[in-house]
Amino acid sequence: MKFIGISVNQTSPYRITFISSESPKIGEYVIVKDEGRELLGMVYAVYSENPYITESIISPDYAQKIRALTSGSIKYRAVVNLLGEITDNGLSSLKSPPKPSSDVFIADNETLKRVFKIEDKNYVKIGTLLNNPDIPVYINLSQSVIRHMAILAITGAGKSNTVAVLIEKISEKNGTAIVFDIHGEYRSFRPNNKPIRIIQPVIDPRLLDVEEIGALIGVDMDASPQMYYILNDVVYSIKKRSSSIDEEDKLDHELNKDFLEDVILELESIKQDKERLRDIVGGNKESLFRLINRLKNLKNRFGTLFKEGATELIKQINEGSINVLDLSGLDEDKADIIISHLLNAILIDKKKTGNKVLSAPIVCILEEAHIFASNRRITRSKYILNRIAREGRKFGIGLWLVSQRPKGLDPDILSQMNNMIILKLVEPEDQNHVQRASESLSYELLEYLPSLNPGEAILIGNMVKIPILVKIDKSLSKLEGHDPNVIEEWLKLNKKVQFQEYI
Ligand SMILES: Nc1ncnc2c1ncn2[C@@H]1O[C@H](COP(=O)(O)OP(=O)(O)OP(=O)(O)O)[C@@H](O)[C@H]1O
Ligand SMILES: [Mg+2]
Repeated sequence: MKFIGISVNQTSPYRITFISSESPKIGEYVIVKDEGRELLGMVYAVYSENPYITESIISPDYAQKIRALTSGSIKYRAVVNLLGEITDNGLSSLKSPPKPSSDVFIADNETLKRVFKIEDKNYVKIGTLLNNPDIPVYINLSQSVIRHMAILAITGAGKSNTVAVLIEKISEKNGTAIVFDIHGEYRSFRPNNKPIRIIQPVIDPRLLDVEEIGALIGVDMDASPQMYYILNDVVYSIKKRSSSIDEEDKLDHELNKDFLEDVILELESIKQDKERLRDIVGGNKESLFRLINRLKNLKNRFGTLFKEGATELIKQINEGSINVLDLSGLDEDKADIIISHLLNAILIDKKKTGNKVLSAPIVCILEEAHIFASNRRITRSKYILNRIAREGRKFGIGLWLVSQRPKGLDPDILSQMNNMIILKLVEPEDQNHVQRASESLSYELLEYLPSLNPGEAILIGNMVKIPILVKIDKSLSKLEGHDPNVIEEWLKLNKKVQFQEYI
């Protein structure tokens, strides 16, 4: 092992400072030898100083002269976070500080491999140590599913690539995942050359319950009880009628193939029927008119999301493979309806004791999570995401939230993400928001975040034994939507420029 310096000043079980004549690197692992113990630490800050060149020097000429005379006096001062004592089984936590003036060594590859090596089927390799490409880094995949995970970074820092690497690992383990693909990036993804199931976002309106229809048209029991009551009554009676007759008879019973149209027609018929009008709305037609208008509006705005007879989204999920719900052509409101509908179905299904659609654990991966689990906007998905974040563990539902705007994430939901992969984050507000949600993100670790390059990340949470600075592997299966090569694409347009006259 290569000697690098000696600890100075006070030491604690968490922190030492050492001086060195050569510059240690930030993120580098060191070993502190202390009376038979070997302690692993990571360099988190490095300062360079020449004791003869101090603040009191105010003339550049004088500084130059001293520099010439004292060039050999430059030394480095490095602050190290102690991570634990190296044992046969890896690391154990430290209860007492090392002596001041302990020798410090650069951790050798053999020791690092021993500390980070994991021979357990729950672990998967996702990259290498940031400062040492020879040491593989593993995470406990099972923990990242059960205890959820957030993948956070500014745009272009490598979040989707990280998801792609993780999906490859899920696929290797025959796992089930559903990706809520907001930008259509995952459509042509082939993890380990295996096919994926693409699911189109279409719901059979008959499967919507009154609350869902109510939410779609802004009617809820507390805020608009009369409209809710009418809607409930009508939806209930149509569902009852339609389940009691078979397909051919529907026309005879004045039911057509369009459920929402049936609801509207039923409401129109109440308008004409004085007795029912009195019974249901107490003679007050206004609520009825408003309901009809809102339902017509719903059909105009969201018509493409509904198709009679569409197979339930949850039943389209292929267990043991990667499923991608293609939300790319939808605006946020529509995507919200689809996401909440499916997540709700998954939670209900996984809570059942028997006769389940999904028999094994599933990971739900949500890109652009700040839109749906927003700390400001009320969305339908937010409610169900919160429930899954809190209860999912017990039922085998994992949640992975991906966001380039962590400060926009709901703090309750974020604090349930026990694991985090944080790539480059620049804004202090983002950093502080994440830190408030996570006990394991220390101030020291935060300081790394702005300087990380694409694919470089901090791993925290119970999926890793200690916080690790990692270079995530590059995904083998190409995702769409990576940075376009601007110049190359312009150069391809080498056709003769012609200007057409437009009138
Ligand atoms: N681990 C990595 N190794 C090498 N290059 C990487 C790595 N991760 C990402 N990159 C590169 O950085 C670019 C952006 O990556 P990616 O699309 O994953 O970022 P993102 O954080 O998902 O961005 P956005 O917020 O726009 O969705 C890609 O072109 C990719 O090639
Ligand atoms: Mg992305």
